[in-house]
Amino acid sequence: MNGRRDDHVRERRVQYETAGLERTDLDASPVQQWHLWYDAAVEADLPEPNAMVLSTMGTDGVPDSRVVLARGVDEHGITFFGNYTSAKGRELDGVGAASLVFPWLALHRQVRVRGRVERLSNAQSDEYFASRPPESRIGAWASPQSEPITDRAELERRVAEIAARFTGDVPRPDFWGGWRLVPQSWEFWQGRPSRLHDRFVYSGGASSGEWTISRLAP
Ligand SMILES: Cc1cc2nc3c(=O)[nH]c(=O)nc-3n(C[C@H](O)[C@H](O)[C@H](O)COP(=O)(O)O)c2cc1C
Repeated sequence: MNGRRDDHVRERRVQYETAGLERTDLDASPVQQWHLWYDAAVEADLPEPNAMVLSTMGTDGVPDSRVVLARGVDEHGITFFGNYTSAKGRELDGVGAASLVFPWLALHRQVRVRGRVERLSNAQSDEYFASRPPESRIGAWASPQSEPITDRAELERRVAEIAARFTGDVPRPDFWGGWRLVPQSWEFWQGRPSRLHDRFVYSGGASSGEWTISRLAP
């Protein structure tokens, strides 16, 4: 059984027949280019098109990755939210830099972004927190994200305590909020047949405002 499973993983090959990507197809702005591809991912009905893999450097020197949801992509950067005391929180605040991957696999596309990371202002985090459903706001209070807990019942007990504490509005806990990754490079990858993929990297624009676009070997 295991042998068959391993064979399946090793032998699986999909030919990427999607239309190619030319330098002339690309918008001068990587943010605009990201939005074109995001719109295509939405149009294609991909699940969670704003999901991205966030990689940080672990405090033990081993990289760490997990999926989070992008909540904004504009000229200032890419924003996302979570618990400031979680593993990712410690790693983001400690190193001040991270990388992201948007894996739009059904379209044979990925976008990789690298850059420094800063926390959003309290006002920006408050604004987003207030837009979340009440249960998610209570969940943010109740979950000591990335800490060991005894069992599911402990979590449910904490949810009940918090729900009883806040009968009206649920304010943002100060240990929960947003970050912004300020891109220093963006790579757009389009799968092509025979592994001769198209890759374009935007760089330099963070400091000059003018992005240089280079084609990379696949
Ligand atoms: C589709 C999906 C979306 C997620 N979105 C978020 C998110 O926006 N923020 C977040 O803190 N965790 C999110 N998570 C959970 C994270 O992957 C992770 O389990 C959590 O942030 C704890 O990671 P850490 O211990 O490295 O801090 C998401 C997971 C999945 C699978």
